[in-house]
Amino acid sequence: MTTPSPVRVGLVGAGRIGSSHAEVIARRVPGADLVAVADPRPGVAEALGASLGARGVTDIGEIFAASDIDAVVIAASSGAHCELVVAAAQAGKAVFCEKPMSLTLADADRAVAAAETAGVPLQVGFNRRFAPDFQAAHRAIVAGSVGTPQLMRSLTRDPGLADPAGVPPWTVFTQTLIHDFDTLLWLNPGANAVEVYATADALVAPEFKDSGLLDTAVVVITFDNGARAVAEASFSATYGYDVRAEVFGSGGMVTAGTTARTAMTLHDATGRHVETARGDVDLFLDAYTGEFVEFAAAVSEGRAPSVTGGDARRALSIALSCIESVTTNAPAKVAP
Ligand SMILES: NC(=O)c1ccc[n+]([C@@H]2O[C@H](COP(=O)([O-])OP(=O)(O)OC[C@H]3O[C@@H](n4cnc5c(N)ncnc54)[C@H](O)[C@@H]3O)[C@@H](O)[C@H]2O)c1
Repeated sequence: MTTPSPVRVGLVGAGRIGSSHAEVIARRVPGADLVAVADPRPGVAEALGASLGARGVTDIGEIFAASDIDAVVIAASSGAHCELVVAAAQAGKAVFCEKPMSLTLADADRAVAAAETAGVPLQVGFNRRFAPDFQAAHRAIVAGSVGTPQLMRSLTRDPGLADPAGVPPWTVFTQTLIHDFDTLLWLNPGANAVEVYATADALVAPEFKDSGLLDTAVVVITFDNGARAVAEASFSATYGYDVRAEVFGSGGMVTAGTTARTAMTLHDATGRHVETARGDVDLFLDAYTGEFVEFAAAVSEGRAPSVTGGDARRALSIALSCIESVTTNAPAKVAP
């Protein structure tokens, strides 16, 4: 595939993260041009596009049919991802898809196969891989600085739960902890998850538990190299957005992630204060930028991106095993 440089991008899904991604691509990624934005909600894409010098459309098909678009960034609601990946690939566009790429392993296979058949790059939005501290931790592990991983942890604490009724079932595993599952796989290079034991509850909004809400979860993961990991999530941290990881091995320990928004610490009469990040876009702006710099580079260079549809499938497999574990209240094997 030959593509002109910069890569001409059409973004699908102009909601909360799509709006941020559009702005990041338009303003912070020199290798990409935001050409168009699409969203089925009337007026939404037009308004976002107009603010960024891109056209806005309500007909998603226009993005796939457009001859001035090389690559599609999918930031639509999760349930739409797989069909959008397949449609974009079949239209010959390079594809970036937000997590989760699909909600079943069969759909993950379909999405990966569509990209392979079309010969287009497929990247998935595991943005933590582009956060400088997580990258440094990964480099240290790959260099052998912590030896063989033995104990690992990864956590996500979201800053709040605005609409408990609007949270689809099993979101804590398929949409939140899926980031942690990818991080743990990435920080334990070459290892596969073989078993999970997951426990979850609605502690933030217990009145929604009967309608399927789970807002608090802990997962123990066993890997085939013997490492044990704990992944945990909460939908409501009063102090902001909190994402951290730790890998303890035979030769040392590495940590990544901080709640501090900046390196500034205020000391005053009431004590010592650090400003905390209030949300994902706040904490991970550089990581979101990095993932689109990588996507644009992969498309321009005609190579596979560093985070693939196969990575999305591996993380999803852990999430699906967690659902089985909670349902059966027992450990569950992770499908390869
Ligand atoms: N990587 C991250 O850190 C991160 C952060 C937030 C959200 N996400 C993911 O991004 C996706 C969007 O999340 P959000 O918080 O922006 O949701 P949102 O509800 O704010 O926005 C979703 C948008 O998609 C549009 N949409 C729905 N169906 C569509 C379709 N078939 N085609 C095109 N557009 C469609 C909706 O109109 C809406 O504007 C989710 O899959 C979520 O898991 C990832």
